[in-house]
Amino acid sequence: MEICLFPATLQSWTGDVLMVGMFEGKMEDGLNELETLCKGSLVQSLEKQMFKGKSGEIATIQLLQNKPNLLVLVGLGEPQKLMLDDLRKAAALGAKASLGCSGTLGMMLPWEPLDSASAARAVAEAVRLSLYKDLRFRSAPEPRSIPTKLELIGLPDSAGKDLQAVHPICAGVELARELVAAPPNSLTPAALAQTAIQLAHEHGLECTVLERSDCAERGMGAYLAVSQGSDLEPKFIHLTYRPQGPVQRRLALVGKGLTFDSGGYNLKVGAAQIDLMKFDMGGSAAVLGAARAIAELRPKGVEVHVIVAACENMVNGSAVHPGDIVRASNGTTIEINNTDAEGRLTLADALVYACELEPDAIVDLATLTGACVIALGDEIAGLWTGNDHLAEGLTAAAEAAGEGLWRMPLRSSYREGLKSILADLKNTGPRPGGSITAALFLKEFVEASIPWAHIDIAGTVWSEKGRGLDPSGATGYGVRTLVNWICSQS
Ligand code: BES
Ligand code: MN
Ligand code: ZN
Repeated sequence: MEICLFPATLQSWTGDVLMVGMFEGKMEDGLNELETLCKGSLVQSLEKQMFKGKSGEIATIQLLQNKPNLLVLVGLGEPQKLMLDDLRKAAALGAKASLGCSGTLGMMLPWEPLDSASAARAVAEAVRLSLYKDLRFRSAPEPRSIPTKLELIGLPDSAGKDLQAVHPICAGVELARELVAAPPNSLTPAALAQTAIQLAHEHGLECTVLERSDCAERGMGAYLAVSQGSDLEPKFIHLTYRPQGPVQRRLALVGKGLTFDSGGYNLKVGAAQIDLMKFDMGGSAAVLGAARAIAELRPKGVEVHVIVAACENMVNGSAVHPGDIVRASNGTTIEINNTDAEGRLTLADALVYACELEPDAIVDLATLTGACVIALGDEIAGLWTGNDHLAEGLTAAAEAAGEGLWRMPLRSSYREGLKSILADLKNTGPRPGGSITAALFLKEFVEASIPWAHIDIAGTVWSEKGRGLDPSGATGYGVRTLVNWICSQS
């Protein structure tokens, strides 16, 4: 889809589907201009559809032989409450109403109250991301047409300065969605590694994949313990983006990469939706998606390392017994009192590896705990960090991306819950505050001198019904926040 600005007025616009945003209580403002298009029948038509311009409302008017032949009005709510996210939601609604049209979609929205360059970018992203549909696994996909061109009407050229980032970022989000949605029989640890290698080839990144024996040499006993119950080989992925010119900041992104989490001998039973646990590599999908976007955007001055300890958590005769004690690559011994708390074991060795690169900051993303879903639901991810500056940077990046993120406490007294009688640590604490003890467990594997943040995306990785610009299923959460954050330091 080509995306561009249409700086002239509505009268001179010619296209196929026209979407116009309407404020609640200020409908007359926009209607006069549109009445000429509808030959005077617009007001009745809107009354019939009971359209009042409330947020989330939509009305469509067929104009048949005319151009445009479809007029779509979307409600924006009250003008004084307008936020970037209202534009995103409206754009997503409008885009979905344009399905079936293969021509030009025009969007006229109130750009001025917000920063118009951010508004243009947010709307363009919302259009592309809301029109995405995953047809890879259908034998005979139903034919589907979407607009080939998007024109943002009434914006000056200066508002287009961020638009060139839209396609790279959306391609990153879509990659993440595809990785998360792919079933565990196709997206294996080896397939994930292959994706990283291909990204490196196509976009000029460096990629190293450590095999089981390499990981054993490095003493990654926590990671390898998780993978030992699977018939599939673990793959430890390290992808690097190096900018042209001098490097000012070196960042490491670590993603949880469980291509399937059965729970192990603490098998997931009952309400624990085992069939959804293909999404347990959502953290790795987000960091690989971000790597794809960064590789295209090529920000200056920042080097980015993407690290994924990919494997499956399965059961067989060699699988971890609940109660096993293992040793991570920093020497810490861990009593595995619950085989279903496997993500933190893989991340432990991945974080130690990341620290050895001596980066200026580390951010990990992981579908780590059901407790985080209980605390924050499916629209907000949890953020844990002891570093206020990092918290501010990530919060601002998420805010600008329209991704929910909320800082949670890293309360050190809760570390008590991880004390083991025999080993340095247990991998699981008590149920209350479970996402906090999980974060505290990870902290044990990060050098205290390196700023580090952990983002629990267990709730946001997947949307059962779909919402806003997210389709139902994989959301691609995290890519846009990470890209914003990385670009803010370049
Ligand atoms: N991958 C799960 C976390 C998860 C649960 C994500 C539900 C999304 C939805 C993780 O490996 C896990 O099983 N965590 C356990 C930890 C517990 C055993 C301490 C959990 O949250 O139940
Ligand atoms: Mn688990
Ligand atoms: Zn898991």
